[in-house]
Amino acid sequence: MSLKGKHLIDPGDFSLTELNSIFQLAEKIIENREEFSEICKGKILATLFYEPSTRTRLSFEAAMLRMGGKVLGFSDANVSSTAKGESIADTIRVISSYSDIAVIRHPKEGAPKLASKYSAIPVINGGDGGHQHPTQTLTDLLTIKKLKGSISGNRVAFCGDLKFGRTVHSLIKTLSRYPENKFVLISPNELRLPEHIKHILKSDANVEVVETEDLELVIDSIDILYMTRIQKERFFNEADYVRLKDSYILDKNKLKAAKKDMLIMHPLPRVNEIDYDVDDDDRAVYFRQAEYGVYARMALMALLLGVYENA
Ligand code: NCD
Repeated sequence: MSLKGKHLIDPGDFSLTELNSIFQLAEKIIENREEFSEICKGKILATLFYEPSTRTRLSFEAAMLRMGGKVLGFSDANVSSTAKGESIADTIRVISSYSDIAVIRHPKEGAPKLASKYSAIPVINGGDGGHQHPTQTLTDLLTIKKLKGSISGNRVAFCGDLKFGRTVHSLIKTLSRYPENKFVLISPNELRLPEHIKHILKSDANVEVVETEDLELVIDSIDILYMTRIQKERFFNEADYVRLKDSYILDKNKLKAAKKDMLIMHPLPRVNEIDYDVDDDDRAVYFRQAEYGVYARMALMALLLGVYENA
């Protein structure tokens, strides 16, 4: 099995064996970073970011630099030829001859997939609109594996904006492919998980899904609490955003009822939904999660570039 030359647009593009090979390599890198510090020597990553980002772009850059490769790209579509009307198909054709692998973030759902059809190099989806965010999912699953011991058999709650949150969409679909996970969906009525995703979960009769608007009602039964930001930029109406933005604020008091070994995860950026007081609670792992994101991306790129093959 080899991931060499593949694109990653949707986590469903990879089998569980392929996903596990990424985690296996990421764990090797965590154990011995030095050993991998030159593995991408001579390789170039292109970062094409048509939408704001801190972690995703910089963690991709850090990942490539930590493997001895180089990086080029843009972080603002207004300074690229997109502003002159260039199509993403033409951009990627050109970038294919400038670099060896590319990550694309775009406000339009499906844009990275379209680019991959015209690309001569592996394309990674760095987040497309409210659709998917597969490398955040790799980050999240690596975090769960490292800190919970297993990606299976957990009761996972998603809290906040489940309608527009692409990190949720990617993660929940992927977790449902692993055995014996159960899901609790906590959101205001207007921001519930889209039906088409619920349908996928419910089509497997063994997956238990509970929906509620009340975090405090369910917090004592949860193994992993995945908090999310209300996605301001995807709202059509400012008044709706203002009304919903503080729907859930996790604080020390609410955590009293939670399990002692519950993980509190968040893809970041956090706005208001986790009180700063929670940061020093042992259960709060969102900053470690961001750190694991670099290792997950290192492993992914090494495998797509074919500079490393798992035994
Ligand atoms: C997420 C994203 O961009 O979807 N951030 C990230 O990549 N870490 C989550 C968010 O913006 O709320």
